Amino acid sequence: GASGGFVLATLAAFDAGDRVAITEPGYGAYRNILEALDVAVVPIPVGPDTRFNPTPRLLDAVGPLDGLVVASPANPTGTILTTAEMRTLTSYAQERGIRMLSDEIYHGITYGPVAPTATAHSESAVVVQSFSKYYSMTGWRLGWLILPDDLVRPVERLAQNLFISAPALSQVAAVAAFDSTAELDANVARYATNRRILIEGLAACGITRLAPADGAFYVYADVSHITDDSQELCRTWLEKTGVAATPGIDFDPAKGNRYVRFCYAESTGDISEAVQRLKTLFS
Ligand SMILES: Cc1ncc(COP(=O)(O)O)c(C=O)c1O
Repeated sequence: GASGGFVLATLAAFDAGDRVAITEPGYGAYRNILEALDVAVVPIPVGPDTRFNPTPRLLDAVGPLDGLVVASPANPTGTILTTAEMRTLTSYAQERGIRMLSDEIYHGITYGPVAPTATAHSESAVVVQSFSKYYSMTGWRLGWLILPDDLVRPVERLAQNLFISAPALSQVAAVAAFDSTAELDANVARYATNRRILIEGLAACGITRLAPADGAFYVYADVSHITDDSQELCRTWLEKTGVAATPGIDFDPAKGNRYVRFCYAESTGDISEAVQRLKTLFS
């Protein structure tokens, strides 16, 4: 999947000690994989003022960089980069010799504008993709990379040594998945319904400061008016209602205690039930 792709891309694109920026909040595995490979992680704190996206001003503030990881739509926020924002970031990176890794794993799951791809704007960016999200093949462990020419052979050599090949059965299934658009788009329509039910339900609970949920299947909510310990809050919700949310500290060690992430990829019945149960705590 994208996880294996991210390891390959990191090994091929960076050396130990290189400085690579990730957003906070952001998908936790980026930090863990980079650190495991001795790459220096440079956190970029992002928030509502930039729709949780990195900007040139925020990047300028952290000093010279070798790499930049962006995700659009992002986990945990669901935020997408607009075409103009993607163009700005790819130019910024290209002009400075910063290698961009663009995680586009949630492409196909958007509720307004389509998320732009880095490859449309950059010769040097690496795109990480997967069958886990739009294609709903999470357990099949299959994804792909779009690589600039200079990284193709290094990644082929690394992949041959680390993984040999992607599972053959998964590859056969993935070819069939390409023709399953009606079924997959029906999933996205269900996510859209679930998203509306969840956002309305959270509003009824007084939880209204949400990251723009442009895509993916997450709502990242500011709960600082309720707690400064979102891990404890999630534990309480789970114990009292059976509703599971993810504490923000999984995505942001600095400010995550004031946020929780809700996932709405389940059935619409389950999401409606979860919202009803949460409401009982706030009535
Ligand atoms: C942003 C992001 N990238 C990568 C992954 C991992 O994807 P895969 O299942 O393809 O390894 C996830 C999984 O949740 C994710 O949210």
